[in-house]
Amino acid sequence: MIVLGIESSCDDTSAAVVKDGRRVLSCVVTGQDSFHEKFGGVVPEIASRRHISVIDEIVRKAVMDSGVPLGDIEGVAATCGPGLIGAILVGLNYAKGLAYSLGVPLVGVNHVEAHLFAARLADIPPATPFVGLVVSGGHTNLYHVQAMDQIYLLGRTVDDAAGECFDKIGKLLGLDYPAGAQIDRLAADGDGAAICFPRPMIRSGDLNFSFSGLKTAVKNYIAKLDHTPEGRELCDIAAGFSAAVVDVLIAKLLVAAKQCKVGRIVIAGGVAANGLLRDRAAKSADEHGLDLFIPSLSFCTDNAAMIAASGTRALQSGESSPWSLNAFASLTKGK
Ligand code: KG4
Ligand code: ZN
Repeated sequence: MIVLGIESSCDDTSAAVVKDGRRVLSCVVTGQDSFHEKFGGVVPEIASRRHISVIDEIVRKAVMDSGVPLGDIEGVAATCGPGLIGAILVGLNYAKGLAYSLGVPLVGVNHVEAHLFAARLADIPPATPFVGLVVSGGHTNLYHVQAMDQIYLLGRTVDDAAGECFDKIGKLLGLDYPAGAQIDRLAADGDGAAICFPRPMIRSGDLNFSFSGLKTAVKNYIAKLDHTPEGRELCDIAAGFSAAVVDVLIAKLLVAAKQCKVGRIVIAGGVAANGLLRDRAAKSADEHGLDLFIPSLSFCTDNAAMIAASGTRALQSGESSPWSLNAFASLTKGK
């Protein structure tokens, strides 16, 4: 089955053509960082307007790159939530128009669950069941994936997402938005034990997360300095902060694997690109006899290949969405 996926839930416009939910024939992604940078975060209206400007070009390029004639596309999958409503509506409505004109089914995809499908695009995909952590700019969600159509939320952040915390700390440190990758690079040259920041909710007894207190702790630490941190000190702050985030993520992931009695863990989403998280996850998996799966870097961040992969699972089970399908903003609504 050949499915075209469309992603526009935040600030990346992406289209991909995927065969049988596993083989990526093309995947085109264009970001908008330069349009949001000066605001220190994503401005929803600007995001929607950028999607409108580029979506047709991105979809055409994805189809062309795939070498698949448009008439061979058997379904169109589009993110319908969660995310920025105005941004989602651009991709979703484009998908509706395209599916309708091709005479193929449309399927709406849950963006956060789709991050878990990114792991299935690797040469060796994880078998189910597994515990999956989706850690991105908008979400920090822990799932028990019993099968790819039986995905249960175990816990989530009660305030900021981990990636959001990286971006906010980056802003305090004078880094460009998004700051995750820059903090990652600085942390590699710092000492994670030099400054001990709090590990919020690490022993909360549940599988939820909280990062806003950590953000405040770093903010207070910087405010107490009588100078702008740079050089070694900046690297140590980045390393201490990263170590705190990673400690909490790994601790909860291991508890979830134990509780669900699974031998496989998956880490997906933009923050899964983090070097310290990848290293620590690999070591912990080894120590606890778990198999670890992390998508390749290009499929960790937002992309339409994971949307097509998730949509293919639905279409192959005979599911499709009505033309009246709406966008939803938060995880509590819709599917
Ligand atoms: O999955 P994604 O592309 O978009 C969302 O769905 O949010 O994730 C983007 C997030 C941003 O917050 C960015 O700062 C963070 O992922 N990120 C990283 C790294 N690369 C991207 N965070 C930590 N370390 C990285 N290497
Ligand atoms: Zn995402």
